[in-house]
Formats: sequence, structure tokens, C-alpha cells
Amino acid sequence: MNQVDYLRISLIDRCNFRCQYCMPEGSELSYVLQQDWLTHDELLTLLREVFIPVGFTRFRLTGGEPLLRPGIVKLVEAIAHLPETRDLALTTNAYLLAHLAQDLYDSGLRRINISLDSLNPQTFEQIVGGRMRWQKVWEGIQAAHRVGFSPLKLNVVVIPGVNDHEVLDLAALTLDRAWHVRFIEFMPIGNASLFANEGWIPSEDLRQRIRDRWGLTDSTVLGNGPADVFQIPKAQGTLGFISQMSECFCDRCNRMRLSADGWLRPCLLNETGQIDLRTALRSGISTQTLQNQVSKLLELKPEINFKARESGTSGGYTRTMSQIGG
Ligand code: GTP
Ligand code: 5AD
Ligand code: SF4
Repeated sequence: MNQVDYLRISLIDRCNFRCQYCMPEGSELSYVLQQDWLTHDELLTLLREVFIPVGFTRFRLTGGEPLLRPGIVKLVEAIAHLPETRDLALTTNAYLLAHLAQDLYDSGLRRINISLDSLNPQTFEQIVGGRMRWQKVWEGIQAAHRVGFSPLKLNVVVIPGVNDHEVLDLAALTLDRAWHVRFIEFMPIGNASLFANEGWIPSEDLRQRIRDRWGLTDSTVLGNGPADVFQIPKAQGTLGFISQMSECFCDRCNRMRLSADGWLRPCLLNETGQIDLRTALRSGISTQTLQNQVSKLLELKPEINFKARESGTSGGYTRTMSQIGG
């Protein structure tokens, strides 16, 4: 059985972008009130007294956009310095990264994954909303590179007819840079109508385009996620494919998710068994009791892991990735 030791921690459900595939402009999201966020102290208590004792040692900070969370640098420092932390990483849109990269590195963060759906500023803004955003994101990526984050990964959600014509250009970023570009199959989560119009492209089709151009070999890169990793021969970086639509990786699931307001979810797409840790903590329930509840959820997880693939890959989920943290 897989060891479940990877916790994705959503620090905030708000975002400064409005990606079409996630929380498009005009979508009416109701945000968690700030008073309902787990405080830094509550989160650290849960890590020390609940999650680490039951075996979690790898953590990823997500959002919404985690760099919008006040005090993010201090929080990173505290988690990075827990003696049991084996891996700490962050997933960001990089809009605020240029001026935070050095502080984050100095506080102990070593790994960052950045969304970059296009190399064309117009297409990028068509996808993420707003104006003049591509340049700032690109500066954020350059800053992360300069400061020394490694491996530095770039996430591309491939939307047919919108950015799939850029797959070779994005893949080419790995030729002479040690950057790791990952292509993610578009899921019907967050924006069901865009999905219904555009659909998704199987990773194997993208790999074939890349193979035809340069060839492709198996490879590896440090990571805890579901990406299948390849490499263009002699390239500095790798290519990852996250293929939740064409391939079911739920059987090898190694993670749980904690939302900004303290709900522990055993699966991205199935909320069975979820626990409201914030309410429990604030009502004085002991962390020993919470540890027992989380242990029990870990035992149940293989049964909870998402299995109804048909409904999962064609149905629309009203909850967005910004609320669950991807
Ligand atoms: P590494 O440790 O670097 O491998 O990170 P990661 O791939 O786990 O993290 P990241 O936040 O970059 O995740 C990229 C995307 O993978 C997410 O936004 C999701 O689209 C997808 N993903 C991650 N975990 C799951 C999962 O359990 N189920 C599904 N369906 N998709 C997932
Ligand atoms: N399909 C696939 N991935 C998505 N993400 C958000 N919405 C979707 C979706 N509908 C992922 C993106 C982004 C991360 C935060 O969540 O990869 O990088
Ligand atoms: Fe885009 Fe991520 Fe923000 Fe969603 S949470 S709108 S995927 S940047």
C-alpha cells in the first residue's frame, strides 16, 4: 500500500488571477472569511501534534495564490525548520514572486512550481485575466532561477485551441535551462463550460508531437506528485505529464489536502470522511484525539480514493482548484 505522507496545505482560497480553467472572471466564489483561516499557530500545532506523528513529512503550500497569505515568509521558515520536514515546496502563479524569491529561499524553501500556460503575453492574459501580467510572471520565474530554487517546475494546463499550439515552444524551454515543464490534462473542475467547449488533449498526443520533433526518453526529477517524467535527449530540464484524464493514478495516491479553513480532505475529487480540524481545535478537542481521527482516515483512504472515473472525468465540479489547492 502507498505511504500517504504528502500534505498539500492551501493557505488561502483567494487569487490575484482568474484563470479560465480555474476561477474564471465573473465566477461567483464565496471566500473563506479571514477569521476562519487556520492561523499560523494552529497550522503549526496541527503539523507538530497531528500530521507529523501520523507520518506526514512532505508538505506543499498552495492557494488560491499562497503568496497572498500575509506572513508567508515566516510561515515557510517555521515549517522548513520542523526537524521532521523532509520536503517543503510551493505552487504559485509567480505574480508576486520577483520580490519574495530571495526571502523565501533564505527562510528554507527550495522548491517552487509555477503556472505558466503560455509564452505569448496576449494568450497568457486571455487565460489568466487582467493585463500586463506575463512580464511580471516571467520576472518571477527568472528571480526563482537566479536565487537557486531547484528543481524549478513550470505547470501548463493544456487547453485545446487556446495554448496547445505552444507545446513545442514550451517544451523547448527545457533544452538549455534546467527547468522542468509539466503539461497537465485539463480537468472538468472549476469551469465545466470551457471544458465542454474545448475538451482536453491526452498527454500521449503531446508526447508524440515532441517525439516527432526531438525524440523523448524516460527521465526522473525530484517530486511527490503524479507526473510521468521524460526528457528530450541532451536537454538540461525534463518534461512531466500529469494525465489524470487519460490515466488513473488514484491507486498510487500518496497525499491528502488541508484547506485554508482547516478541512482535511482525503481526496481531490471525493470528500468522503473529511474532517473539520479547525472547529475541533478551537473547541478544545485534544490533538491526541485529532491524531486518532486522522489515523483512521488514513486507513480508510484506499476506499475513498477517487474511483468513479467516468463521472470524475466528464462531470463538472463546482468546487474550484483555488478552493482545494490543486
Ligand atoms: P511535485 O512534488 O513537484 O511533483 O508537485 P505536484 O505535481 O504534486 O504539485 P503541483 O501543485 O505542481 O501539482 C500540479 C497539478 O497536478 C495540480 O494542480 C493538479 O492539477 C494535479 N494534481 C496533483 N495532485 C493530484 C491528484 O491527487 N489528483 C488529480 N486528479 N490531480 C492532481
Ligand atoms: N484542470 C487541470 N489543472 C487545473 N489547475 C487548476 N484548475 C485546473 C483544471 N481545471 C491546476 C493548475 C494550476 C494549479 C494551481 O491548479 O495546474 O497550476
Ligand atoms: Fe490560476 Fe492558480 Fe489562481 Fe486558480 S489558483 S486562478 S489556477 S493562479
